[in-house]
Amino acid sequence: MGIVAAFEAMVLFFAFLLSGKKRRGKTDLSQVKVIGRLDDFLPDTVYPYRSGQLYLVRFRDGGFLAISLKCTHLGCSVRWIEDDQKFVCPCHASQFDRKGNVLSPPAPRALDIYEVYLEDGLIKVDLNKKIKRRFFEPSQVTYV
Ligand code: FES
Repeated sequence: MGIVAAFEAMVLFFAFLLSGKKRRGKTDLSQVKVIGRLDDFLPDTVYPYRSGQLYLVRFRDGGFLAISLKCTHLGCSVRWIEDDQKFVCPCHASQFDRKGNVLSPPAPRALDIYEVYLEDGLIKVDLNKKIKRRFFEPSQVTYV
């Protein structure tokens, strides 16, 4: 009985490992964007990524957040307004703070984010992994 249970546990463990390998294998590397060198990004600054897909926010404490520019109302592209320190949607006037939280509706939730990581001194964003969220949480910030 114990041997059967141990065998089943091993089968489940290897199935889990293989499923993770498949998921990683499906990553479209063309959608992993090099945003720039770590030193390129000053704290307390919002950077538009040149392809127009996202904004990279670097917080005062050095953390990063890659924010989708698609408004969570109907998908128009939000713009960062430096003077007002907020994202504004030109379609129906939703507004978001620098963390992507809704300041003013009709947007129903915070702007989506992407995974950020550091590799070989470069900040990269994986556009394969859009993360939907209701609001900002500190755990969403990446520290490298
Ligand atoms: Fe942005 Fe409607 S699409 S407020």
